[in-house]
Amino acid sequence: MTRDPIEALFEAAKAAQAQAYVPYSRFPVGAAIRADDGRVYAGVNVENAAYPLGTCAEAGAIAAMVLGGGRRIEAILVLGPGEALCTPCGGCRQRIREFAAPDCPVLIAGPTGIRARLTLAALLPHAFGPANLAPGGAA
Ligand code: THU
Repeated sequence: MTRDPIEALFEAAKAAQAQAYVPYSRFPVGAAIRADDGRVYAGVNVENAAYPLGTCAEAGAIAAMVLGGGRRIEAILVLGPGEALCTPCGGCRQRIREFAAPDCPVLIAGPTGIRARLTLAALLPHAFGPANLAPGGAA
């Protein structure tokens, strides 16, 4: 039986979250991408004693996708702890934009399930993206 695609993303992000390296914030995040190759790629936040060098879960998932051969993000789920919505930071919104269309679903989850279903365009309106650098600069 085919698993529900959102459930598969949730499970992948939750399993990833358990591996987060977060000695400073104690705020573990897992992210999971469904890519154009049909695979799911996960990532975690990896912090550093030199604080600004820490990387977000979304960045890890994108790196895993690129290494695995995926080139487009069909959907991304971000799972964080606590009560507040764990929405991607500004930098990660731009990282996602590189590989995703404006209508790409961005699912925000907590420990027990999906809390919000957004789109990339809602999180990053009027985004600068690869098309801006194409000849003619068309959208
Ligand atoms: N963090 C993520 O990995 N993704 C998000 O969407 C929000 C924040 C991480 C960065 C840092 O390691 C910790 O959460 C606290 O900001």
